[in-house]
Amino acid sequence: MRQLVIAAVAATLSWGVGAAIAQHNHSHSDHSHSASPAPSSAHSEHAAPASDTREFVKFPEKLVEHTLANMRDHLLALQEIQEQLGLGRPDAAAKIAEARLGMSSLSLHGAHDVAKFMPKGMQDAGTAMHRAASQLAIVATDSGVTGDMKPVFSALANVTSACVGCHAGYRFK
Ligand code: HEC
Repeated sequence: MRQLVIAAVAATLSWGVGAAIAQHNHSHSDHSHSASPAPSSAHSEHAAPASDTREFVKFPEKLVEHTLANMRDHLLALQEIQEQLGLGRPDAAAKIAEARLGMSSLSLHGAHDVAKFMPKGMQDAGTAMHRAASQLAIVATDSGVTGDMKPVFSALANVTSACVGCHAGYRFK
């Protein structure tokens, strides 16, 4: 099941990268591979669409600004989580994951006000991210006891996959 999800995300990802490269109209094809987070073999198997295939989602102006500010905090939280893990403080990483990205962050983000403007798939992507972050918090806390960091990296990748999945499907502008 997880393999399937990863394959699906990798496929969407290579599409997204293809679209980005097409939009920028870059002729440096040599560099496009090094910039790609997906294996280059995935590239050759999927034709890049010429246009942006993300679904436009209409949010009220104020809510767009608010949501984008939240997004920037999501990225900051990911950075802080990785920083704490690197410092060998999985408990601190777990706290950040739960409070800023996990189920506990739902009220913080005013998720209930925003959800009604989202198509179902986008709501699901948001829920998947909050669940994955709460799972990361649990796994990181466990690693403080077991000393095994591998599950933490996998859980972190699941969170990032949720970001990638939603970004591949939806846009505000
Ligand atoms: C439920 C959908 C969804 C999820 C989940 C999501 N995002 Fe976003 N994010 C968006 C949308 C939509 C945009 C606007 C994209 C556009 O209009 O081009 C965006 C934009 C952003 C931006 C740009 C902000 C700006 O100022 O323009 C950042 C940074 C970002 N997201 C980070 C993240 C990170 C990190 C995660 C995961 C921890 C994440 N997002 C999860 C939907 C999502």
